[in-house]
Amino acid sequence: MLKIVSVVGARPQFIKAAAVSRVLRATEGVKEVLVHTGQHYDANMSDVFFEELEIPRPDYNLGIGSGTHGAQTGKMLEAIEKVLMEEKPDWVLVYGDTNSTLAGALAAVKLHIPVAHIEAGLRSFNRHMPEEINRVLTDHASDLLFAPTKTAVINLRHEGIPEERIKLVGDVMYDAALFYGKKAERQSQILNKLDLKPKGYVLATVHRAENTDDPVRLKVIFDALCEIAREIKVVLPLHPRTREALIKSAMYDKVALSICLTEPVGYLDMVMLEKNARLIATDSGGVQKEAFFYRVPCVTLREEMEWVELVELGWNHLVLPLSAEAVVDGIKLSLSDCAGLEGQPYGDSHAAQKIAQHLAHVPR
Ligand code: UD1
Ligand code: UDP
Repeated sequence: MLKIVSVVGARPQFIKAAAVSRVLRATEGVKEVLVHTGQHYDANMSDVFFEELEIPRPDYNLGIGSGTHGAQTGKMLEAIEKVLMEEKPDWVLVYGDTNSTLAGALAAVKLHIPVAHIEAGLRSFNRHMPEEINRVLTDHASDLLFAPTKTAVINLRHEGIPEERIKLVGDVMYDAALFYGKKAERQSQILNKLDLKPKGYVLATVHRAENTDDPVRLKVIFDALCEIAREIKVVLPLHPRTREALIKSAMYDKVALSICLTEPVGYLDMVMLEKNARLIATDSGGVQKEAFFYRVPCVTLREEMEWVELVELGWNHLVLPLSAEAVVDGIKLSLSDCAGLEGQPYGDSHAAQKIAQHLAHVPR
């Protein structure tokens, strides 16, 4: 029996793990042990995904919670190490670029347990981003690197990662989008609940540290979204980090008058909101791609991006939030001139199967 410990902890990882876990658990001879670090813990940031996406209950919930980078990652490292010493798996599987990813990879590699990284090779080339540090270190600690795109493969080659460790499998978020997209259509009532007409609103999300922790950036983005809301409804499911930042900057009440702010929504509601939006404005990695999966134009509110194919195909425009005018202009331009080219840069929606095959067959 091949034993795989999967480490998850933050919202996007639950969605990625939903796609992969489903396949791993259906693969003969594979046993998955699921570890939730507890990085995200609010019901609407965690439980809702386990319920809706039918992710098995975690075998371990480490309950680490929030903290500074060092404290959070350090506590995770210690707690994951204990689990790995107990479970003695053949592989540790980590996802994406959060502190949970790095802690899982580091705990495993120090115990000489092989590490497989899903979503390997993404780079923004901005080392100020905590995610960039997490990705680079995780990739260099990994034995198997599952790249979602050709660009990711090239990035890994440039960093000298041995070719035999790199596997181009496609993006597991595309697998999830197709698998759960239909379910969302059947189950979600969010459009009625928020009184939204298809293609009658802009969907926005904001949560990146570089946008929320800088009060000037935060004001630029929210001033721009309030301005857009004068012309078309803007709906924004609010990440707890951003809620705190808006309250701290005394902006929350004013923003709530212009923008339809909601609590974070479940994945099925989010898919429905994405599919029916006229445009999406976001700094989220996952949401950018989902915009493309549903062929909705998108503006990325950042300085640089990892999913460069979206810009190359013309579905996404990168807008650096330096002034509210620049953001308003960028959004208005995309609202008027939107559709991009066709293409399939994120694989064939069988990334999870390919990952399971590789894990089961790579000699250890
Ligand atoms: C983390 C990831 C980021 C990812 C994002 C997905 C890191 C360094 N960052 O950012 O890459 O894009 O998750 O959403 O790992 N909070 C709550 N309730 C929760 C979770 C968080 O209130 O359930 C609040 C806390 O005040 C916390 C803050 O949000 O301090 C930030 O949470 P944290 O997990 O540290 O980072 P994210 O911004 O969520
Ligand atoms: N998402 C969700 N509800 C929300 C906001 C996002 O289900 O209120 C989903 C979204 O559809 C995508 C994932 O969460 O699948 C993206 O997570 P997030 O934006 O938190 O992180 P990132 O992808 O930037 O790391």
